[in-house]
Amino acid sequence: MKYPPEPFRIKTIEAISRTTDWERLAVIQDAGFNVFNIPAEKIYIDLLTDSGTSAMSDNQWAGMMIGDESYAGSKNYFHFEKVVHKIFGFKYVIPTHQGRVAENLLFSTILKGKEGLVIPNNNHFDTTRANVEYNGGIAVDLVVDIAKDTQALDDFKGNIDLNKLAKLIDEVGAGRIPIGMLTITNNSGGGQPVSMANIKATSELLHKHDIPFFIDACRFAENAYFIKMRENGYREKSILDIANEMFSYADGCTMSAKKDGLVNMGGFFATNNQELAQQITNRLILIEGFPTYGGLAGRDMEAIARGLEEVLHEDYLAYRISQVEELGDRLIEAGVPILRPAGGHAIYLDAKNFLPHIPQSQFPGIALTVSLYTHAGIRAVEIGSLMFAHDDPETGKTHYPDLELVRLAIPRRVYTNSQMEYVAENIIEIYEVRNEIRGYEIEYEAAVLRHFTARLKPLA
Ligand code: F0G
Repeated sequence: MKYPPEPFRIKTIEAISRTTDWERLAVIQDAGFNVFNIPAEKIYIDLLTDSGTSAMSDNQWAGMMIGDESYAGSKNYFHFEKVVHKIFGFKYVIPTHQGRVAENLLFSTILKGKEGLVIPNNNHFDTTRANVEYNGGIAVDLVVDIAKDTQALDDFKGNIDLNKLAKLIDEVGAGRIPIGMLTITNNSGGGQPVSMANIKATSELLHKHDIPFFIDACRFAENAYFIKMRENGYREKSILDIANEMFSYADGCTMSAKKDGLVNMGGFFATNNQELAQQITNRLILIEGFPTYGGLAGRDMEAIARGLEEVLHEDYLAYRISQVEELGDRLIEAGVPILRPAGGHAIYLDAKNFLPHIPQSQFPGIALTVSLYTHAGIRAVEIGSLMFAHDDPETGKTHYPDLELVRLAIPRRVYTNSQMEYVAENIIEIYEVRNEIRGYEIEYEAAVLRHFTARLKPLA
């Protein structure tokens, strides 16, 4: 079967409502044409993010009932630590309440008070970049060039360009690079995987210069599955073996368990470096909590421990990756422009090519998110000019991003394949009437991160 069916059956359901066209028009107007402002109850299919939106299993819910809420030494921490050891292999495991806190702890420890340090990555995720920059560092993205071509087909468009990395090390000097990173899969680059060969070569290059290597591991199991399917020599290996090998090349990782931990909240930092672990633990106590809970309840750690085991199941991953792929294939067959190949957790519509009559100054990505909502009650997120365009402080000229994307992130184990079919059909319907869609202008914007709160209005 090309697209394997769900390897689970549904035990509990949550009703979602199908609003009327008129209702949605009123809702989107109230929301200032920004889908972040829509109450979630007014959404039918919510593809805003795959983060923290997974459905937990009966096994995870059962684990929640044996939460040990002791302040220190909760038994759930030891289970969580054991599972993290088993998969990631790192010696020191520090729980946090979500991924960005692990990033904050790492970068505030290694960057603070030392101006001009540089962090290379294939692509920094927004919060990773923000944590680097907030602590005085310079975040440099070195993804392979092919990643910028939305139509180019390649197995590992998430790879870092090793020549660019070598050049950066030569130019700035290893002394100014406290760590190097890889984000697997590469969220900002379309959910594309990184190959084992690239992970290994990155590790070798960094280590040759005594630079520690860290992995942003949010979607590690999806990345491991792509390695299994696409890279020579891995077809017979288990996902656990592949994960073990990936992390064996690294000195540590940051993790948002809200993705491949299959939970609604949680994360961790893990490393083999004792001194760094000690420093981070001391900061953890200041901002998150005691080292055996770090901002989480005992029951949350139990759910993560169980989620991390479940995410390794191959029948789950085969279904997961193919559910996203099937949505992509349906759209490609209908001629809808999407970023190719399909990512592990999301399909990205190419709004510039979907709506070529709308210039970047009129937010084609926003126009598309509004249409998805008003037409079908689907929520997606713009990753384009509202998020990234900015004025040059000297010339006043607006710089626009290369791509105008709309991300349809698929929550794990949440929507059925027939709901995905509904999503595909509605996008195709919108594509057929794309010439009627108009651009937008901003009515209100905040000084930073404006996309979260901006209010817009349609142009006549
Ligand atoms: N790294 C990556 C690659 C991410 O995708 C995210 C979150 C984080 C770090 C931060 O983790 O949210 O637990 O603090 N990505 C979400 C998204 C928000 O929608 O892609 P967090």
